[in-house]
Amino acid sequence: MSSSAPDAEVPHSKSQLPGKTSWWSRQSLWKKILLVLISLLVIIGLAVGLGVGLTVGNNGDSSSSSPSPSPLPPYRLPNGTVWQPSVNSSWQIILQNPLELSADAISISPNVSIFDIDMFTNNKTVVDGLHRLGKKVICYFSAGSYEPDRPDSSDFHSSDKGKELDGWPGEYWLNLSSSNVRDIMKKRMDVAVQKGCDAIDPDNVDGYDNDNGLGLTQDDSVEYMRFLATEAQSRNLTIGLKNADAIIPKVLSIVQFSVNEQCVEYSECMTYAPFIDAGKPVFHIEYPDGAPKLSASTVTKYCSDTGDGDGAKLFSTVLKTMDLDGWVEYCNRAMATTSLDTT
Ligand SMILES: *[C@@H]1O[C@H](CO)[C@@H](O)[C@H](O)[C@H]1NC(C)=O
Ligand SMILES: *[C@@H]1O[C@H](CO)[C@@H](O)[C@H](O)[C@H]1NC(C)=O
Ligand SMILES: *[C@@H]1O[C@H](CO)[C@@H](O)[C@H](O)[C@H]1NC(C)=O
Ligand SMILES: *[C@@H]1O[C@H](CO)[C@@H](O)[C@H](O)[C@H]1NC(C)=O
Ligand SMILES: *[C@@H]1O[C@H](CO)[C@@H](O)[C@H](O)[C@H]1NC(C)=O
Ligand SMILES: *[C@@H]1O[C@H](CO)[C@@H](O)[C@H](O)[C@H]1NC(C)=O
Repeated sequence: MSSSAPDAEVPHSKSQLPGKTSWWSRQSLWKKILLVLISLLVIIGLAVGLGVGLTVGNNGDSSSSSPSPSPLPPYRLPNGTVWQPSVNSSWQIILQNPLELSADAISISPNVSIFDIDMFTNNKTVVDGLHRLGKKVICYFSAGSYEPDRPDSSDFHSSDKGKELDGWPGEYWLNLSSSNVRDIMKKRMDVAVQKGCDAIDPDNVDGYDNDNGLGLTQDDSVEYMRFLATEAQSRNLTIGLKNADAIIPKVLSIVQFSVNEQCVEYSECMTYAPFIDAGKPVFHIEYPDGAPKLSASTVTKYCSDTGDGDGAKLFSTVLKTMDLDGWVEYCNRAMATTSLDTT
């Protein structure tokens, strides 16, 4: 794309070949001015149309050193068209089963404003039902790992896969620079659009922090998030960063929310606090021992924004069991169990 300027120069220099009276020198001055103006307009038009470098390097991201399979279009900041969830939004996350939500449902439990649900197992009827109830829908899929039982699992090449994820048999880290992997993720985002999802929650983008077998680096993840965010925005999909605290400074400006697991457990909530300062929510999950039966002191511990929870002020905290089923408890001790389709 950066070649548009040199290309535009070519006819100009040809017309100045020595030894004969050029076509250019035979034109009148006003005609030359007019032609130059038209050329300039065409060049500017092309540059804007292709988005050449007009906004690149303006996203608080000064690194971008890792090689990528194809040149990335410059990331444009959202103009207010992409949905920006607000800080302290209430939410529920369920990945275990699809929701049981009939087309004519008039309520859902809990009555929170945002649901983060599995993109593949939930169909459009469920998303439509949530929308009818005034809810926003975040669609979860794994963007950085191969899972064996997804409808598109056979599209991955064996060369895309690294080591198995610790604790998740059959699931493998993916090469984030693979164009095949990226094509699959673009198709997944098309599915999100077809189902009417407002946002995506792409998981496992922190391979650099794990024994991935592919030599994945933080820069690979930053570059991958830039790819995902660009593709999401072009589909009017809001996008979040899942965990991956080490790259927050480099991608905060291009995502609209964080999904964090266990920052209180690991005393790292302060790392996620910049999201709140930027007006972006942190959807915060803790998996306390004993869930779904929690003592008052356990709830207090995981809901604190001091001590282990230092930095967690205004985080949207949910207490869940590890299998992310319908049960949830909130910091005000309200509890709910969302109905799931377990058939
Ligand atoms: C975003 O803003 C830019 C510059 O102001 C404009 O060219 C572009 O059309 C806008 N995009 C959308 C989707 O509104
Ligand atoms: C993008 O999504 C937002 C809210 O989710 C909506 O208000 C807006 O109209 C959408 N924009 C386009 C261009 O579809
Ligand atoms: C955050 O949300 C809760 C309800 O979910 C509300 O009770 C509380 O007042 C809110 N806090 C702020 C500072 O807006
Ligand atoms: C959509 O999903 C719900 C919940 O799993 C299910 O009850 C319903 O039959 C599905 N509808 C269609 C059209 O597949
Ligand atoms: C659910 O919450 C919305 C928005 O806060 C409210 O308007 C609605 O009445 C609530 N629905 C029920 C059944 O409580
Ligand atoms: C990952 O994919 C890129 C792009 O195809 C390739 O250059 C690189 O060698 C791959 N890495 C591994 C470890 O296979």
